[in-house]
Amino acid sequence: MVAVLLLLFGAGAAAGCGYQSCPPTRPGLLNVHLVPHTHDDVGWLKTVDQYFYGVRNSVQHAGVRYILDSVVAALAAEPSRRFIYVEVAFLARWWAQQDEAMRQRVRQLVQEGRLELVGGGWCMNDEAAAHYGAALEQLALGRQFLRRELGDCGTPRVAWQIDPFGHARQLAATFAQMGYDGLFLGRVDHQDKAQREELRQMEMIWRASTSLQPPAADIFTGILPNMYNPPPGFCWDQLCSDPPVVDEDSVENNVDTIVSSFLQVAHSQAERYRTNHILMTMGSDFHYENAHLWFYNMDKLIAHVNARQANGSRVHVLYSTPSCYLQELHRANLSWSVKTDDFFPYADGPHQFWTGYFTSRPALKRYERLSTNFLQICSQLEAVAGAAARKGPYGSGDSSVLREAVAVAQHHDAVSGTARQDVADDYARQLAGGWQRCQVVVANALAALSASRDKFVFCNALNVSACALTEAAARFSVILYNPLGRRLSWPIRLPVNGASYAVTDAQGHPVHSEVVPVSNVTRWLRGHAGSAARELLFHASVPALGFSTFSVSRLSRRDPLTPPAQTPHLSQPREIRNEHIRVLFDPVTGLLEEIENLDAGISLPVFQSFYWYNASIGNAENPQASGAYIFRPNSSDPIPVSDSKRVSTFLVKNALVQEVHQNFSSWCSQVVRLHTGQPYLELEWTVGPIPVQDGWGKEIISRFETPLRTGALFYTDSNGRQILERRRNYRPTWNLNQTEPVAGNYYPVNTRIFIKDEKMQLTVLTDRSQGGSSIFDGSLELMVHRRLLYDDGRGVGEPLLEPGATQQGLVVRGRHLILLDPVESAAERHRLLAQELVAAPYTVLAAGEGLSFGRVRQEFSALRTELPHNVNLLTLSAEDGGNVLLRLEHQFERGESANSSQPVTIDLLSLFSAFSIASVQELSLGADLPLDAISRLVWTPDTGPIHSHPIPKLDPHRVLLQPMEIRTFLATVQGDP
Ligand SMILES: *[C@@H]1O[C@H](CO)[C@@H](O)[C@H](O)[C@H]1NC(C)=O
Ligand SMILES: *[C@@H]1O[C@H](CO)[C@@H](O)[C@H](O)[C@H]1NC(C)=O
Ligand SMILES: *[C@@H]1O[C@H](CO)[C@@H](O)[C@H](O)[C@H]1NC(C)=O
Ligand SMILES: [Zn+2]
Repeated sequence: MVAVLLLLFGAGAAAGCGYQSCPPTRPGLLNVHLVPHTHDDVGWLKTVDQYFYGVRNSVQHAGVRYILDSVVAALAAEPSRRFIYVEVAFLARWWAQQDEAMRQRVRQLVQEGRLELVGGGWCMNDEAAAHYGAALEQLALGRQFLRRELGDCGTPRVAWQIDPFGHARQLAATFAQMGYDGLFLGRVDHQDKAQREELRQMEMIWRASTSLQPPAADIFTGILPNMYNPPPGFCWDQLCSDPPVVDEDSVENNVDTIVSSFLQVAHSQAERYRTNHILMTMGSDFHYENAHLWFYNMDKLIAHVNARQANGSRVHVLYSTPSCYLQELHRANLSWSVKTDDFFPYADGPHQFWTGYFTSRPALKRYERLSTNFLQICSQLEAVAGAAARKGPYGSGDSSVLREAVAVAQHHDAVSGTARQDVADDYARQLAGGWQRCQVVVANALAALSASRDKFVFCNALNVSACALTEAAARFSVILYNPLGRRLSWPIRLPVNGASYAVTDAQGHPVHSEVVPVSNVTRWLRGHAGSAARELLFHASVPALGFSTFSVSRLSRRDPLTPPAQTPHLSQPREIRNEHIRVLFDPVTGLLEEIENLDAGISLPVFQSFYWYNASIGNAENPQASGAYIFRPNSSDPIPVSDSKRVSTFLVKNALVQEVHQNFSSWCSQVVRLHTGQPYLELEWTVGPIPVQDGWGKEIISRFETPLRTGALFYTDSNGRQILERRRNYRPTWNLNQTEPVAGNYYPVNTRIFIKDEKMQLTVLTDRSQGGSSIFDGSLELMVHRRLLYDDGRGVGEPLLEPGATQQGLVVRGRHLILLDPVESAAERHRLLAQELVAAPYTVLAAGEGLSFGRVRQEFSALRTELPHNVNLLTLSAEDGGNVLLRLEHQFERGESANSSQPVTIDLLSLFSAFSIASVQELSLGADLPLDAISRLVWTPDTGPIHSHPIPKLDPHRVLLQPMEIRTFLATVQGDP
């Protein structure tokens, strides 16, 4: 025992962080790596602040500041001890409160590898509903903090996604490109896990891209044995009730029992893994508030288990970390199986599919997406307008508050919709705070760039047609900012009270406008928020990465140009059409009947309607209810929302837009809309309050039915980027026993879902994350809203009832954009349209006409030339020291489009007109390391070794982008806009 303790002390003294500091292991023995950890949700049953401070401990006993205090003390007390920390949102907050001595102590622990940062994002982001851009930003935000405050040794080597409810391929590719050596997962489907345990395939190489050259997107991936919990019987937190180790001379002495049962657990775990190293997660949700309990007992466990080696035991147990464990797997020099699909959907039992959260809290999901969009705009303007954006006539602002709020919103209980109601409200509150600060940035930047002295105004409720300025003003201007790298034509719709308006563009040319009545549904929805009788429509053309100003003035009633006030045609419209699309409606039912793409000369019968699945409340076979996480319909046949044979419809038609308004029920309606010139069809649905007085929770879907012969196949995106093929009742890596014919076929639809045959593809793009599927051939469906009466027993402890602003139940409005294309050109169209949805232009208003000042710049583009259409400017943001961070991405997959999937070259130095670039350094995807500083462990797939390609020398005049490639640059810039 004395010898063993000496060995342990020796282990802590190893020099240098990272793999060099790993504790010694015992070749030939089974090495059990104990990984002490805490899982600190960035909001769930309590808000982020409540968790940090330990407020409302009656709801859940959890206080993160005490965890960090306690762990640092416990690590300092005994050098062999190790700990990992994950969520930088909490760490950064704690760090800000520490004095320099404490910070130095922590840096020292990190230097010595005793405290290891894993994951290292601002939070542990959700994987189904998080868009890749936002996930990337939140990881980068955390990593940059760690690099800044903790240096080299603070850079995480291991990604740690131990709680998210299913795992996305795009996120795995992101980890690989940020330089992570491995990824650990806690939750995978129970059937998948059982098979992997049997075949010893718990650890594998995940090839996370079909476009990038391996091993660029390969990441070694391990599935943990007990999710992220300790093995049963070995939980020693104050939140647990397992017996502590008693090794004194007492009737309570339990050393033999504990050691024997530990050895048994270790041996049984080793049977499911391939090497003589296994990992045990020693901790759980908000553990280590009193770290002494855990560490004291693990010290004893280690001593007593290892002492048995003297009597022939072949088990060696040690404090370790995920990267030290990973290093041992790497040293084992094995070849590993390769996985190419993803880990969706996740089920932890036959009727427990975690596919409800794909849709839960649809309004928060939309707000998150919109906020990500606005953060992009805010960051761009900070970079383009320079210091004038942060301080100017509108006060001081910056993007940091919104960046942190959006990062928090990526957490796996935030955008996922699985937090309690008050916590969800708090996420929205944080986002709103960020919006305010960014609106200051946008107003300052526009003032600087345009030299206009008009007062900029922001209307945040245009989606319900409310805006005090446009409702009252006889003259105002509209400034549209476009974050995309190409010119865009965008429909503007503003609440007004006048009967007709004159609109002129930035050059003073007249722009055609129309006035339509505010629909009854919108009037009801906005309540007292607005009082407009009408909406003004016009199409605004706006340059790449810039803005354009439109002047609007009300024409007086006597003005001869004033057309007669319009009323909607109460009718049974048969068709709407523009130059690209023709849409037919069934004259009997009032429903969508056929879509024709006039450009391509193809048409497809498409029937679309709304239905609801009645949520299970549990049954004799299984008590599982549908809830915030879990989707369990009581029957596979959904019930039509409309109980009549026809939905009432009416037509609104003018030179700019044609709309068929469909009323499915008192709580479900839709506008089928075609703008003149727009090559897609828009379905704007308004759903809620979902009635539940009949005792049924309801999960509302929009279903499309077509005669396409789809052979059980459909396609969904991965975090809004890659496209994955899905096959009904099938999983690529195991023989599926399908136990839920609907819920078990649901997948996350982050931005799009499509079905196709050999000729045609029908694509539906979403404005937020939703769940979707194709339950029978030729059909596809999206779940748009859900309201449930029971909790689903996964800890949140509340039914998903969402009261909404009125307390009567949440009403949600959203859009589906529909494309019908020949298969060859489909990718091109959905890629570009998806970009317009996530990086949509932003409307700013100003009192006055804008034109009155001679020197005012009415139109502006920060680009010298537009980007090629297959390239997206993913990041443009201001960094310290006048530097600018840029991410350029090729937004097509290999082989997806004959033209657009080709490699493309950009001249970075002559791209921008707003500033000139003096020098460029290429960074890793996380923007925290120079690209050439990234060196990753090389793993051997069982298909044979692969060789890394050297990084080509950067020529900023010729930046080459391969399909799906993202390249990150730090540019030193000169000049002022
Ligand atoms: C080793 O075995 C001997 C003889 O059975 C026993 O007395 C001793 O306690 C054992 N040591 C440990 C550490 O289990
Ligand atoms: C809107 O509501 C008004 C007042 O209730 C009613 O007169 C009108 O017919 C409704 N319009 C439509 C299109 O339903
Ligand atoms: C499929 O799963 C169900 C539910 O767990 C089980 O009753 C049934 O035996 C399984 N079928 C097969 C073939 O394994
Ligand atoms: Zn969690």
